Amino acid sequence: MTYLPGSLYNDPMSSFASSEIRRELLSLLVCPETGLPLSGWDGASRYGTLTTIEGKTYPIRQGIPCLLPTFLQEATAPLVSDASELAEKKREMDARDAQAEDYDRMLGLRIFTAVELPLSLRYLWLEPQHLMLEGGCGTGRMTAAFSQKVRGLVCADFSFASILAARQKLSPELAEKTLFIQADLSQLPLRSDSFDRVGSFGVYEHIPTPDARSRALTEMGRVLKPRTEGGRIALSAYRWGAPINWMSEREGHHEGGIYFRRFTMDELKHLFAVNFCIGESTEKLLYYHLLWGRKP
Ligand SMILES: C[S@@+](CC[C@H](N)C(=O)[O-])C[C@H]1O[C@@H](n2cnc3c(N)ncnc32)[C@H](O)[C@@H]1O
Repeated sequence: MTYLPGSLYNDPMSSFASSEIRRELLSLLVCPETGLPLSGWDGASRYGTLTTIEGKTYPIRQGIPCLLPTFLQEATAPLVSDASELAEKKREMDARDAQAEDYDRMLGLRIFTAVELPLSLRYLWLEPQHLMLEGGCGTGRMTAAFSQKVRGLVCADFSFASILAARQKLSPELAEKTLFIQADLSQLPLRSDSFDRVGSFGVYEHIPTPDARSRALTEMGRVLKPRTEGGRIALSAYRWGAPINWMSEREGHHEGGIYFRRFTMDELKHLFAVNFCIGESTEKLLYYHLLWGRKP
């Protein structure tokens, strides 16, 4: 994996305009509210606007299309005690932004990654011709490993600071074929049936309501290619079972107010099976379940 210091990566957008893969990735973006195509950004400028034919606009900030649904864009400060989807998601966005610089420094996470990444790659089964969506890329702990194995990668996350941290980790070659977008997994601004692979690792358990979790799985299924074209999704989520349940809560909030819920394997399989036929699943990672599947 190539890690570049930020100073070497001052202008990641400089050479993107003419790239064919970049244009292809841009063509996958749609309005999260209406599904209408978006145009008006060359994929290279650091600031600008993406616009639908109806005139709805979305800003480009530091080269990143900000395609959050309207309800998450509003600058309302939710009450700390409010457990609604909006309040929980806003709290997590703020907490992830605040923690973005420290996330990768956690020693335990680095050790875990050495075991988790090879297994996640096996479940994804990436090939050089693939287009992949990473749903909830965070600070890019696994992004470079995905990007170097595929033709093109779209990384979606609702934490802007995490996306900036993730982008810093890519070499110019990987950055060119990796499009980061600020987006909500429960309302993806992406065309249907577009991706050969969808991977989402350590994200599902943080989506705060059963309805929002169900919409996220439906959305990831919507953008995945059909099984006849080989589309495959891999997903991990917090596991509820021994020894985790001896020392942890089943549902609650991490530091900074980040919501989480842990799932039994049966429960997660049941939820996943609403949208996907399960290929394989494992509890080997103990802390996480890992599954892969295809659309029915
Ligand atoms: C625990 S981190 C995992 C990041 C990365 N997948 C990894 O394994 O290192 C969870 C990430 O999911 C993002 N996230 C949570 N809910 C989301 C949602 N509804 N839409 C987009 N991103 C979300 C958070 O901002 C955070 O970056």
